[in-house]
Amino acid sequence: MAGNILNTELCSMLGIEYPIMQAGMGYLARSDLAAAVSEAGGLGVIGAASLTPEILREEIGKVKERTENPFAVDILFARMPSGDDSRINEYSDEVNDFIEICFEEDVPVIASGLGNPAQIVPRAHETGKKVIALVGNVKNALRVEAGGVDLIVAQGHDAGGHTGRIGTMSLVPSVIDAVKVPVAAAGGIVDGRGLAAAMMLGAVGVWCGTRFVTTKQAHSHDNYKDKICEINEEGTIVTRAFTGKTCRVIPNEFTDSWIGREDEIEPFPLQGIKVGQDVALSARRDGNTNLGSMPASQGSSMITSVKDAGDVVREMVAQAHEVLARYIRA
Ligand SMILES: Cc1cc2nc3c(=O)[nH]c(=O)nc-3n(C[C@H](O)[C@H](O)[C@H](O)COP(=O)(O)O)c2cc1C
Repeated sequence: MAGNILNTELCSMLGIEYPIMQAGMGYLARSDLAAAVSEAGGLGVIGAASLTPEILREEIGKVKERTENPFAVDILFARMPSGDDSRINEYSDEVNDFIEICFEEDVPVIASGLGNPAQIVPRAHETGKKVIALVGNVKNALRVEAGGVDLIVAQGHDAGGHTGRIGTMSLVPSVIDAVKVPVAAAGGIVDGRGLAAAMMLGAVGVWCGTRFVTTKQAHSHDNYKDKICEINEEGTIVTRAFTGKTCRVIPNEFTDSWIGREDEIEPFPLQGIKVGQDVALSARRDGNTNLGSMPASQGSSMITSVKDAGDVVREMVAQAHEVLARYIRA
């Protein structure tokens, strides 16, 4: 009976074997990681943020070479920066470039990590694609549902990276109660216990970020991966210092330097422009953990080693089966 319990609505919707999605993460979620996760039966996701359109196209090509299974591209659906009021309802030029590439390359699933992907939904559905949207509260869940998305990822405060104010345990069932589309859970989920718990809350699957940062296939410096393995559940803070939006990261000299100067932080996306890509990416790219942004989950406490991404999927599945079978027997 426990054999098929992980074969949820998410699996049939996306054509995947297990209800595990690897989060689209800027800079580090590239073809190596996405292909490994999709090949293991989950949904691998390329994070478009910080890539150029040309590199995104190459990365999509590399995933297609390595797996025939479905995969996704995650785009931060930012609109034109304020100042250009005539185009305020349009996506930014970069976002439009990423969208065109996804359609030209026939990417089967498009995920929206930020903003509302409603404008692309009709075209996606006409061409047989699914659209996923991340949200941090019920208000935004209703907004993206009205925009026609196929799946909502409810991402709780525990999550690494940009994060809202509501914890995963409260957010996921609140969103499920409010919408009709299927809901997956994100934030603090790093193993099979988290997957099983998400399913008990009514989620059709999980979307995991930090656990996949600490894999061999993540395009990221070892110093950053090691930091995640070292910290406990108190080892992260939420700061606006890197992007202007609240972001859960491992603190360092850079975040300390903004303590007491919070009123000087610009709103998103201007703070990110002020800080510059070199600062933001230096931990991921160069291993400079004093300076760079190190997004990480409260669930990092349960991550103690860097693993193969396929093994992460397989271990999560095995542990979830074991945990769920215990309750089925009871
Ligand atoms: C290093 C890192 C980078 C991230 N970058 C993005 C991004 O570019 N787009 C996005 O939708 N979410 C991004 N996120 C958030 C993830 O999509 C996901 O919601 C989050 O990691 C889930 O929480 P967890 O880290 O506890 O698993 C990022 C998260 C991390 C840890």
